[in-house]
Amino acid sequence: MTVTRIPVGGEQPYEVVVGTGVLGELPSLIGGKARSVAVIRTESVAAIARPAINLLSESGYEQVLDLPVPDGEAAKTVEVAAGLWSSLAAAAFTRTYVVVGIGGGAATDLAGFVAATWLRGVRVVLVPTTLLAMVDAAVGGKTAIDIPEGKNLVGAFYPPAGVLADVATLQTLPREDYVSGLAEVIKAGFINDGEILRLVETDPGGAVVPHGEHSRELIERAIRMKAAVVSADLRESGLRETLNYGHTLGHAIERVEKYRFRHGFAVSIGMVYAATLARLAGYPVDVERHRDVLTSVGLPVSYRPGAWPQLRPSMSVDKKARGARLRFVVLDGIGNPVILDNPAEDMLEQAYREVSA
Ligand SMILES: NC(=O)c1ccc[n+]([C@@H]2O[C@H](COP(=O)([O-])OP(=O)(O)OC[C@H]3O[C@@H](n4cnc5c(N)ncnc54)[C@H](O)[C@@H]3O)[C@@H](O)[C@H]2O)c1
Repeated sequence: MTVTRIPVGGEQPYEVVVGTGVLGELPSLIGGKARSVAVIRTESVAAIARPAINLLSESGYEQVLDLPVPDGEAAKTVEVAAGLWSSLAAAAFTRTYVVVGIGGGAATDLAGFVAATWLRGVRVVLVPTTLLAMVDAAVGGKTAIDIPEGKNLVGAFYPPAGVLADVATLQTLPREDYVSGLAEVIKAGFINDGEILRLVETDPGGAVVPHGEHSRELIERAIRMKAAVVSADLRESGLRETLNYGHTLGHAIERVEKYRFRHGFAVSIGMVYAATLARLAGYPVDVERHRDVLTSVGLPVSYRPGAWPQLRPSMSVDKKARGARLRFVVLDGIGNPVILDNPAEDMLEQAYREVSA
């Protein structure tokens, strides 16, 4: 069993520990000073959380609280967060306690947010159990909950003390969720690491399962990319914006679909859109390569014709747009993301026609 430790730099450096069957590393990530632990986890990962809780109970902590929360986005609400704060208060949870978040990106976002806000910040260790959470949500220190006015509107930048990515936990993940996470892996290939694209293109069948020949390498390469970017830019001032590749249209699709559309599926369409836009703007982008690699793993590459009048205003409310100007991350070749600022309306619409055809 090999364990990979990927460092994440910044003001509070930490490690992403990657391996198969590595839940036993949890106590060392929690750290020796902790007296008690609160495990925030979704119902869907009970079979993963149980051995982790048993291990912690045997590791000598005074208290190990098991705090189940609803699955998916239903966890990221003010009500669920308030329920957790009450549970922590009832347990007299002090700063010598540690929060552990186990689950998909929704659970790790919530656990991070509760840890960031409880007593103005307690230590948190994240155990992502979806591909998307391993390569994206749990790495980088962004935490958030949703309010009725919008998704991720309330949150904090709050880096975890460690991340434990146990690839074995992905075995129970529904295939569609795994494939959704692959969109972020492939995004890492386009914006930074062309070897990822080559590995997926060589064996797309192996890329869609956690035990594929190159799956571990794909996961680690994507985590390394995210770790490098957030190490250099925790608070999203410049470099981190490049992670937004495919997300401008992607977020608009998610908004129009009221978040019932998988994030990675929306980003996949968004990447083809960004590539098309870049080509129209004169950049040397291989749009067909985008379509081919994304469809080879079962990701969608087109969206409803006629949806443009709904999507266009939705793109302007993206929190990464600056004022009324739209900023797109586009590629000036593989691994070279640049910003396309304020593209002409007719070019935006033409690119959409090509994606919805
Ligand atoms: N903080 C960030 O930087 C960041 C980045 C990207 C996404 N996100 C957030 O991540 C969330 C999406 O994450 P996601 O795609 O992981 O979705 P999710 O957390 O909703 O998980 C998807 C589903 O899989 C279930 N599940 C999780 N692990 C499982 C397992 N091992 N086996 C079986 N079922 C399992 C979950 O309970 C849920 O029903 C969104 O809320 C998004 O805003 C955050």
